[in-house]
Amino acid sequence: MTSLVAEPRTGQAPSEGLLSRRTGLLGTENAFKIGPYIRRVEESGHRVIKCNLGEPDFPLPAHIRDEVKRQLDADLTHYCDPQGLLPLREAIAREMGPRRGLEISPDRVVVFPGAKTPIGFCQEAYCDPGDEVIYPSPGFPIYESFTRYVGARPVPYHLDEETGFGVSAENLARLITGRTKLIFLNSPSNPTGGVMGRELIQEIAGVILSRCPPNVRVYSDEVYENILFDGATHFSIASVPGMEERTVIVSGASKTYSWTGGRLGWAIFPTVEEAQLFKNLNINYFSCVPPFNQMGAKVAIESPLSPPGIARMVEAFQERRDVVVEALNRIDGIRCQKPRGAFYAFPNVAGACERLGALEAYEALPAELRDRTTPSTLLQLFLLFRHDVATMDRKSFGTIGCEGKHYLRLSIATGLADLEEAMRRIAAALEDRDGFAAWIRAGANLY
Ligand SMILES: Cc1ncc(COP(=O)(O)O)c(C=O)c1O
Repeated sequence: MTSLVAEPRTGQAPSEGLLSRRTGLLGTENAFKIGPYIRRVEESGHRVIKCNLGEPDFPLPAHIRDEVKRQLDADLTHYCDPQGLLPLREAIAREMGPRRGLEISPDRVVVFPGAKTPIGFCQEAYCDPGDEVIYPSPGFPIYESFTRYVGARPVPYHLDEETGFGVSAENLARLITGRTKLIFLNSPSNPTGGVMGRELIQEIAGVILSRCPPNVRVYSDEVYENILFDGATHFSIASVPGMEERTVIVSGASKTYSWTGGRLGWAIFPTVEEAQLFKNLNINYFSCVPPFNQMGAKVAIESPLSPPGIARMVEAFQERRDVVVEALNRIDGIRCQKPRGAFYAFPNVAGACERLGALEAYEALPAELRDRTTPSTLLQLFLLFRHDVATMDRKSFGTIGCEGKHYLRLSIATGLADLEEAMRRIAAALEDRDGFAAWIRAGANLY
């Protein structure tokens, strides 16, 4: 049986005592790790429809591309300010501040290689071993992964389908203790597409202001702030009076400008002193973010050509969302709510698992295999290996408390024709009970 974990080059496990105990605590983002599986299916001559990765399928807009090329030609190719180039930080402050009703000075802005980097950095900077980190589940997997890595305790708040994958302020309040140091919020959400409205965020802010001392930080992950459907608007918790002083606001270029390979993210810290600490983390880890890309991001933020491009992309996502959600809901055994933002569908596949026999197949697995897989993982891998559609399983978005929850995440950042074909393949897969049984009997790639 092949594991999703990359084998060392020798094919042998690392020798005992080689790696720190901490490395064993690190989780991962399976959307990347599933890549070798997909390649294997493709190498056997099949065309896989990739609904696994969270990246817009639109090209980098020409005005941004041209600026990056121009900067390369101007030799902006050397080390630069580890906090981020001042012109970019000024652009970020000017763009992010007024939209949130805040006055942001560029001294509080730090530029990172992607919005992923500040997740782990915040956990390192704010948490000591034993401190508690509250985060959404299902949620972006790095929240849980890195919490363990820094020795903190992961405390998930569960987003339930019954409440539209919302978080209730009351449930959040119950999780706050004297050890809480960091609370992650993510709206619009990966993977549910849920969007928190102003009222809910105000309620959550009320809980935090009344229950947490001022040294508890809120990490507001707003990377999908520009990808909203049906006229929904973005509201940041930092806009609630009293919260700017407690909130790290994070956004970036990957999703808004379809520029995942640019590796550009940024955070606005409550104080200049914190920004300086994160600048020093940058110095320690990677010195600086490529300056030619930073100038590209400045143009992305400031150019009047950007908003119409974003609007066209969002319109396409909304159209695909409608097609995908409708098609999923027509499949017996699948139930899918309409996401209001980001670019994911997160259907409940409990009925599909039952139809295929995945629940029984899971129960019949040896205990050591059961620990590594789930019914939705079996469905996910059956869809990939036998029906050429790549999706993500529920446990890829938080492992604690995911037992008995059967969901898949499908990225809709794929062309409409491919998405329609993916829906046909999923519908056909759920008719293929014999194929599923045979695949389970073959016993390969079950986790
Ligand atoms: C919720 C969330 N936060 C952060 C990131 C990281 O984005 P990047 O590092 O590409 O800027 C992602 C990417 O999928 C995400 O979904």
